[in-house]
Amino acid sequence: MTAKHAIITGGSSGIGLAVAKILANRSWRITLIARNAERLNQAASSLNIPEDHSLAIATDVTNQNDLNVAINRSIESFGTPDLLITSAGIAHPGHFQELDSKIFQQAMEINYFGTLYAIQATAPAMRKVGKGNIVMISSGAALIGVYGYSAYCPSKFAVRGLAEVLRGEFKPDGINVSIVYPPDTETPQLEQENKTKPAETFAISGNAQTWQAGNVAKVIIKGIEKNRFSITPGLEMTALERLGSLIGPLLQSYFDYLVRKVRKP
Ligand SMILES: NC(=O)c1ccc[n+]([C@@H]2O[C@H](COP(=O)([O-])OP(=O)(O)OC[C@H]3O[C@@H](n4cnc5c(N)ncnc54)[C@H](OP(=O)(O)O)[C@@H]3O)[C@@H](O)[C@H]2O)c1
Repeated sequence: MTAKHAIITGGSSGIGLAVAKILANRSWRITLIARNAERLNQAASSLNIPEDHSLAIATDVTNQNDLNVAINRSIESFGTPDLLITSAGIAHPGHFQELDSKIFQQAMEINYFGTLYAIQATAPAMRKVGKGNIVMISSGAALIGVYGYSAYCPSKFAVRGLAEVLRGEFKPDGINVSIVYPPDTETPQLEQENKTKPAETFAISGNAQTWQAGNVAKVIIKGIEKNRFSITPGLEMTALERLGSLIGPLLQSYFDYLVRKVRKP
């Protein structure tokens, strides 16, 4: 039997790489896509699988042509993927009035269009064979608007909208679609976010426990195995996903209270 194949955008780091490691342990063939070639090659070697079982392709997911070429190359090498994970993403928090328009555009280009382009490049091959899993990494910030994330939240809400539509459209073709709402997870992205996060955002997110990428990856794999549409690591994300419209107003009041506390002289 040929080994299964996963394509992972954003696979050189954090959550994407953690998922790749679990699948590599299960003898999958892995295609990793990200921009920085050096980090990508290091990530591929860290999988500890035979060289001809991994492919590291340096590509920017915002460039649709390049991404098509990368995904076609991956399909030619390892066949139609059993799994596509779209994990490539960035976050740049800050007060709305201090964020340049370019940051809003970049968030949509990478987080939303990068996800869309990867699916557009992969879904036709999956449709042809009548099976496959597509897993979009969104964020807890797609379940409720979070202070300081005016560029990031909308891009992740957009991914959520796409997932909800494609779930129904792709099902008759045998393609399962899932969406993941990770909580704060210790990765280079979170480190980067902490550099520009407003004090109010720290006060809001500070109460929640941060996760290890490996534990988020385990929940993602379990969710895929159980054919879950919504994959919610931890109780907080699960409650927010299931009861969002009920507990949202309470949470917003609590967030407002924390903001007032930070701003008090
Ligand atoms: N960490 C958290 O707290 C958290 C919480 C909720 C959701 N998430 C989401 O989880 C996903 C993974 O994040 P992470 O925390 O694992 O971050 P990470 O460790 O920084 O990994 C991000 C990955 O995306 C790649 N990437 C970024 N921009 C790209 C582009 N334009 N084209 C191709 N690849 C690109 C990066 O590589 P290059 O820079 O080399 O391209 C890297 O491989 C993201 O979508 C993020 O929004 C993270």
